[in-house]
Amino acid sequence: MGSSEDCLRKNNPHQQQHTTKFKLKILLLVILTNLLTIYIFTSPSSFHLDRDLSHYTNHFSLPLPWPNTTALSIELRSTQAQLAATRSQLAELHQRLHAIGGILAKHQDVEDGPSDEFAALAGLPDEVKLSLGPHALPLGYSPRSGSDTIYPSVGAACLRYKDDLVQYMKYEVGGECPVDDVFAQRLLLKGCEPLPRRRCRPRSPKGYVDPAPYPECLWQVPPDPSIIWEPYNCKNYRCLVDRKNQPGFFDCKDCFDLNGREKARWLFDNGNLDYSIEYVLKTKLPDTIRIGLDIGGGSGTFAARMRERNVTIITTSMNLDGPFNSFIASRGLIPMHMSVSQRLPFFENTLDIVHSMHVLSNWVPDTMLEFTFYDVYRVLRPGGLLWLDRFFCKGPQLNQTYVPMIDRVGFKKIRWNAGMKLDKNKNEWYFSALLEKPMS
Ligand SMILES: *[C@@H]1O[C@H](CO)[C@@H](O)[C@H](O)[C@H]1NC(C)=O
Ligand SMILES: *[C@@H]1O[C@H](CO)[C@@H](O)[C@H](O)[C@H]1NC(C)=O
Ligand SMILES: *[C@@H]1O[C@H](CO)[C@@H](O)[C@H](O)[C@H]1NC(C)=O
Repeated sequence: MGSSEDCLRKNNPHQQQHTTKFKLKILLLVILTNLLTIYIFTSPSSFHLDRDLSHYTNHFSLPLPWPNTTALSIELRSTQAQLAATRSQLAELHQRLHAIGGILAKHQDVEDGPSDEFAALAGLPDEVKLSLGPHALPLGYSPRSGSDTIYPSVGAACLRYKDDLVQYMKYEVGGECPVDDVFAQRLLLKGCEPLPRRRCRPRSPKGYVDPAPYPECLWQVPPDPSIIWEPYNCKNYRCLVDRKNQPGFFDCKDCFDLNGREKARWLFDNGNLDYSIEYVLKTKLPDTIRIGLDIGGGSGTFAARMRERNVTIITTSMNLDGPFNSFIASRGLIPMHMSVSQRLPFFENTLDIVHSMHVLSNWVPDTMLEFTFYDVYRVLRPGGLLWLDRFFCKGPQLNQTYVPMIDRVGFKKIRWNAGMKLDKNKNEWYFSALLEKPMS
């Protein structure tokens, strides 16, 4: 591991840097003191001061029986003038000191950069240091990035959870990755995203079977050996399909049952909160909705229905006590294991449609939700659609928080429906909306 040695070797230059820094500070202090001395003893004001002092002493050492007020007031005026002059000189001196201080600080910044970084990484295993970088570019300075160094992109929050990070990074480099999906996902959901484990191979499921071809794969529950079941409470797909009948809360509880509620989703428009895909596509010119994203798309049924209409949808999903990503992939659809806190990895003005059901709701901190809305706006092409499908919130939040937020980001409302949640009477609301990014 040459690069790991590189990393350790950097510690020595770092210590040298400290000594250099110390010496430099001393030097600058000496220069500063000299500057001050020279300033005080050469500046014209110091002569004035001397002369004035003798003047005063002459005056007051010969006590006058009747103080000459005219002379005194003249003296006072000239003292005032001198005071003002001294003040402006002081200000000038202050300015000069400030400038010197700035130079000093600038110099320190350059030196403190790496030392802060090293402080944050102190005591962490080499694999962590490697996964967070920096790595020198082998061909040197790159005008593309304007740097000769590259840092792997890893969530800034990784270093906030050092114990978890160390635990997560305890793995055999080049070997098999630990099966700790639940732990890893928790770290990711806390903001350590993307995760920094980079050099191991995931275990393959035993008895893996090739996936089914299109279009059958879209509506088939995959065979059990297509995944590793260890991280989940259910140990086969039958269990996941049957979960809808079990008590207790699970995310997307009936999503694995492709012949149940899942089959009918988005096929019918109830004129209220539930819009149909057909309705949504018809708000645009035929076949101009071609590519898009489903944020928190459960088992991928939205993407499946869209694929049947020749629309390509990428589905982001977590694996919250269920193999959602693997399931989506088995259906021949594209899953992305990405939380809602991450900036969308798409370029501006590219996607035709973004859909989200249930996931974007009032559990997301307001500021983060606003980031997401702006991000969706960014990646949608002009005329692109944001379909908010059953966004859940409390009554007052609807008009106080979410309506102004959506307006602020700049979406145009094509359709808007709000309704109270039926199963509880706690002033809980849903709203659905079809929003458009304006053409200009
Ligand atoms: C007071 O001082 C002024 C200015 O120095 C001088 O012109 C004047 O004669 C002095 N008056 C007396 C009473 O000494
Ligand atoms: C999807 O595309 C295929 C092949 O290009 C075409 O035959 C089919 O009619 C299209 N389906 C829809 C719903 O537009
Ligand atoms: C929100 O505002 C609209 C229009 O002003 C109003 O009709 C609706 O009742 C309000 N909704 C809630 C939940 O307060």
